[in-house]
Amino acid sequence: MKVVLAYSGGLDTTVLLTWLQEKYNAEVICYCANVGQEEELDGLEEKALKHGAVKCIVDNIEEEFAKDYIFPMMQANAIYEGTYLLGTSIARPLIAKRMMDIVLEEGAEAICHGATGKGNDQVRFELTAYAIKPDIKIIAPWRMPEDFPFKGRTDMINYLEKRGIPCQVSAKKPYSTDRNLLHISFEGGILEDPWNEADESMWVMTKPLSQAKDEAEYIEISFEKGVPVAVNGEALSPAALMRKLNELGCEHAIGRIDIVENRFTGMKDRGIYETPGGTILQAAHRAMESICMDREVMHLRDSLIPKYATLVYNGFWFAPEREMLQAAVEKSQETVTGDVRLKLFKGAVHTVGRKSDLSLYNPELVSFDEEGGYDQTDATGFIKLNALRLRVRAAMQNK
Ligand code: ARG
Ligand code: SIN
Repeated sequence: MKVVLAYSGGLDTTVLLTWLQEKYNAEVICYCANVGQEEELDGLEEKALKHGAVKCIVDNIEEEFAKDYIFPMMQANAIYEGTYLLGTSIARPLIAKRMMDIVLEEGAEAICHGATGKGNDQVRFELTAYAIKPDIKIIAPWRMPEDFPFKGRTDMINYLEKRGIPCQVSAKKPYSTDRNLLHISFEGGILEDPWNEADESMWVMTKPLSQAKDEAEYIEISFEKGVPVAVNGEALSPAALMRKLNELGCEHAIGRIDIVENRFTGMKDRGIYETPGGTILQAAHRAMESICMDREVMHLRDSLIPKYATLVYNGFWFAPEREMLQAAVEKSQETVTGDVRLKLFKGAVHTVGRKSDLSLYNPELVSFDEEGGYDQTDATGFIKLNALRLRVRAAMQNK
């Protein structure tokens, strides 16, 4: 049997690589996606092959991640439960899709991942896999206690030692993290008590407020149809633009949150996130829309945000309802083109200016000093008709 394994070269996936060979006599193809996690990926292929993989694919998908996943989601202004910018959620369908591309190319039968049976990630990986190949076989060892009897790290270290497999075990962080171009997440371990504040030493993508720059920094982001294309007039590729905004957000201590969220599997989970560039981008995009988008289009789109965000969170990226909403979002973005000026200062993103050739903002119309083609006497009837129901109700109540 040929299996494509989601592989990082760490302790867990090194154990999985050996275990798959022993248990299934499998030919294992290791797959490692580079989505901007800033981990050393040199030497990974060599390591996988040494440990018995028939192939190891290290796949740089940062550009595709930013262009086809982060940006379309940002066009929708997706936010889960009012705060979470979905940094991990949006990477999973892409990683799973790339694994499925390899399944199809290599004629493999199964995929294997190391996500636990309690989390969201297993759902996101597997929904994507089934959406692409309905008969794919999925091996999720953490849900196979009979066959995969590992209780923790010591068991895994012993397992590898017994077989003489060297695995440099990095010092275990007292929590779980997941990093990519959009964010880093922290959860579990010492963060499980939602009353305990995270230690300052934990954060990696942002400086603490106490070390944020003392001067405000002005930046400009340019959009074309709701997609960011340049920063300070410099055209950047999607991934480069994310990196640029992440650097700026880091210096100004932007984008930290500490939340308790509802997992798809039903439990509440305390999560801590740093989304520096994404936080800046979200504010800028909103500001761009504020002058370019029709009111009713905006309100209708806004009403769909919770639904859209839940679909992404729950792993329904490759689902007809997400595609349907995306088509509407794309339509809504046709006029969202122009520049936004922002001031970054001490953890905050302030919008200070916006301009667009497609702007609907009409200074004469809104002016306190000019009529601008607006007849103020019209407002009398407008209010009276809107008040009709209210007056009928008041008359009834006062009877
Ligand atoms: N709770 C977040 C989410 O579901 C982050 C998950 C992090 N995953 C991980 N394997 N550490 O999107
Ligand atoms: C996991 O359980 O594997 C990580 C957390 C999650 O998927 O929500």
